[in-house]
Amino acid sequence: MLNYRRFPDGESYLRFATALEGRAVVLVETLNAPDEKTLSLLFAARTARELGATSVGLVAPYLAYMRQDKRFQTGEAITSVHYAALLSQTFDWLACVDPHLHRYSSLADIYSIPALAVDAAPLLSTWVKAQVSHPLIVGPDAESEQWAAALAAAIGAPHVVLEKIRHGDREVVLSLPNMEKWRGRTPVLVDDIISSGRTMISAAGKLRQTGFPPPYCLGIHGLFAEDAYSMLQGAGVAGIVTTNTVPHVSNAIDVSTLLAGAASALVSAFL
Ligand code: R5P
Repeated sequence: MLNYRRFPDGESYLRFATALEGRAVVLVETLNAPDEKTLSLLFAARTARELGATSVGLVAPYLAYMRQDKRFQTGEAITSVHYAALLSQTFDWLACVDPHLHRYSSLADIYSIPALAVDAAPLLSTWVKAQVSHPLIVGPDAESEQWAAALAAAIGAPHVVLEKIRHGDREVVLSLPNMEKWRGRTPVLVDDIISSGRTMISAAGKLRQTGFPPPYCLGIHGLFAEDAYSMLQGAGVAGIVTTNTVPHVSNAIDVSTLLAGAASALVSAFL
């Protein structure tokens, strides 16, 4: 049991109310709003080790800071690398769900500790099979193709990938390939992260303009910054569904059993 509170000036107070000597400790923290959460998480891990934990692992259902994986402009911080270094220096292992691997081929490219990425695709495919008849899986950009292709293959449906050009944090322009042969299907947009929601909103708008029925929006990690959720709801979509890696009203797919399995394997590896 970890007691946590903030002092009036915003600094963190932490106290483990359980003896940790000789124990394998697993901290569970999903890392949306990472700037608010990470410092106290690192304090907790370091304290656990001082108090005699035999290993300290991190279960982070959503792993933050994976998207800045390149210096796009001179002088930019490649924060994915620095964040990975901070966590790797403090934890013995890491488990998460579908990290945003785009330019990195695996977490091992930047994490120096054992890091397991749980694949949510089987759970997404179960949801789509049960809820959508005659689906067309749509990846809204090239980065989402890995999830769209895996989901489509798992349910035996076709998939298409749109082209996205990002002009700013909340400005994206999407274009559709020729969609004629997919008429009569219900589009299911799938992406790993819904943040500002602009990618999904723009993709849904394009599909509607082309005469397709309202699409379902399936996101693995629903971050829903600011008014993203209400804007997406207002974009004429059939439904918005996420996994529970980040608690949200749209959560309909439970990843906890898969994550628990990964964490259990990692704990055993450190015994
Ligand atoms: C791309 O890098 C990701 O896969 C998502 O497409 C992106 O994070 C979605 O962002 P937003 O919801 O802000 O358009």
